Amino acid sequence: MDVVQAIKERRSINFFDPARAVPDEKLRELFEIANLSPSSFNLQPWRVVAVRDTERKKVLRKCAFDQPKAEEASVVLIMVADPNGVEENIGRMLDSWVSLGYMKPEMRQTYEGMASGLYGSKDSLKRKIFAVKNTSLFAMNLMLAAKGLGLETHPMDGFDEDCIKKEFNIPEDKIIPMLVAVGYLRPGVNLLPRAFRRGIDEFLKFDRY
Ligand SMILES: Cc1cc2nc3c(=O)[nH]c(=O)nc-3n(C[C@H](O)[C@H](O)[C@H](O)COP(=O)(O)O)c2cc1C
Repeated sequence: MDVVQAIKERRSINFFDPARAVPDEKLRELFEIANLSPSSFNLQPWRVVAVRDTERKKVLRKCAFDQPKAEEASVVLIMVADPNGVEENIGRMLDSWVSLGYMKPEMRQTYEGMASGLYGSKDSLKRKIFAVKNTSLFAMNLMLAAKGLGLETHPMDGFDEDCIKKEFNIPEDKIIPMLVAVGYLRPGVNLLPRAFRRGIDEFLKFDRY
């Protein structure tokens, strides 16, 4: 499936087949593809908790305001945005840029300074926005990759973040931009037509806001 078709055919699926599991290999392939997502300074500040266990999904459903898909999908991904992604990944990232010839070794310090300038200090709002925007791009890529692999998805932000953090041991400083349910459509379910989209002229302006 090409990318345009994947975008056109992706839908947020409410009715997952609880009896059909996503094979491990396919799940790994999904992550390998999503892992190619772009990110600020290539810093990749996301983590994912993939919830597959039946009992753990029940807990997740409780935290997600009892949304059935949080339990019925084969796997539900807790997308975790990590504001510490800058410090954690900048060293390896710059190593790769140096070794692949993207930059000269003497530029390392300048680049490190640029990254901390752009993305703020650890606790800043700037840093939280950095983590959330990159994790959200990762999640979108993952949803499109899933479609290409024959899987269905559903993003969710209807959940109690504190409940998920507590139940899944996610440290306080992390942010959870969304959950993504992944699985197969329940047999016999017909989707309603895709809902309203604004005309593009409503949000698209050229050259001035
Ligand atoms: C970040 C995000 C959070 C969402 N949260 C929920 C949710 O908690 N529950 C839900 O039923 N749908 C949720 N949705 C799905 C939207 O309602 C859906 O994307 C929208 O209606 C458009 O439908 P489509 O995805 O099938 O094109 C969410 C979508 C996004 C992108």
